[in-house]
Amino acid sequence: MGTQVAEPVFLNGQFLPLADARVSPLDRGFLYGDGVYEMIPVYSRQAFRLDQHLQRLQATLDGIQLANPLTVDAWKSAIFTLIENAPWPDQSIYLQVTRGADDKRDHAFPPASVAPTVFAFAGPLITPDADLRARGVAAITVPDQRWARCDLKVLSLLANVLARQQAVARGCAEALLIRDGFVKEGAASNVFLVKNGRLLAPPKTQLMLPGITYDVILELAAAHGQPLDIREIHETELRAADEVWMTSSTKEILAITQLDGIPVGSGQPGPLAEQMWHWYQDFKNSIMRKG
Ligand code: PDD
Repeated sequence: MGTQVAEPVFLNGQFLPLADARVSPLDRGFLYGDGVYEMIPVYSRQAFRLDQHLQRLQATLDGIQLANPLTVDAWKSAIFTLIENAPWPDQSIYLQVTRGADDKRDHAFPPASVAPTVFAFAGPLITPDADLRARGVAAITVPDQRWARCDLKVLSLLANVLARQQAVARGCAEALLIRDGFVKEGAASNVFLVKNGRLLAPPKTQLMLPGITYDVILELAAAHGQPLDIREIHETELRAADEVWMTSSTKEILAITQLDGIPVGSGQPGPLAEQMWHWYQDFKNSIMRKG
């Protein structure tokens, strides 16, 4: 077993050692990036917001006109088996469905006889530790060069890959994507701002992935009476923010303390980031206690 992929993995209805999980090189995921994915965090062997992740998977499948190959119950059963067999209490479950492998290469959809390819595995979940949260991370801004359906969680991630790589090449953790002067999200995260005590979040449009963590944060803000505005955020507001956060299933809530080499606010993680992180942990713990 590798250290990052638990065995067995799940491929097309079977649980297999990774080395036995074979996919055709004609698979449309490989040829075209023609497929969808999900990443579900698992805490103490409890999948977090599983129904919401499976709903977003369905919405993405609908968006690319690919029938869901598994029922919700079949997905859950496969996911529970992966969770049980993985060595870590905290995990990330990766799910992927592609439009399968035809016997030729053609952009248009293959015949209905071509079965989708379903792949899933459990990896370890490594969330930011206390040191990293206390320091925060640096980010850059880059032009958003993705397509016009960023609300779909599809495999074709080249623009995200290139954006994140620009960040890494500059010693930064994330690239924030600017389209027409407005910040939409990060290469693999959503973005939040704090200004004068108000939390600001970009609205869910076709130009942003509707993050599961994003939803939890909005719910927690509402539940705790945190003033909140959901509206487009101009790049100039981003640069004048008191706090900027990146949020995702793996990063949870992580303060961005430097943007394009300039300190954000005080240059330290702000008080609302810390507060929201605690609300988030409490919420996770309450779910885990419910079992
Ligand atoms: N990425 N926006 C983008 C472009 C993302 O890729 C992600 C998550 C998010 C946050 O979504 P969520 O809160 O549901 O994790 C926003 C995952 C972690 C990934 O690509 O592995």
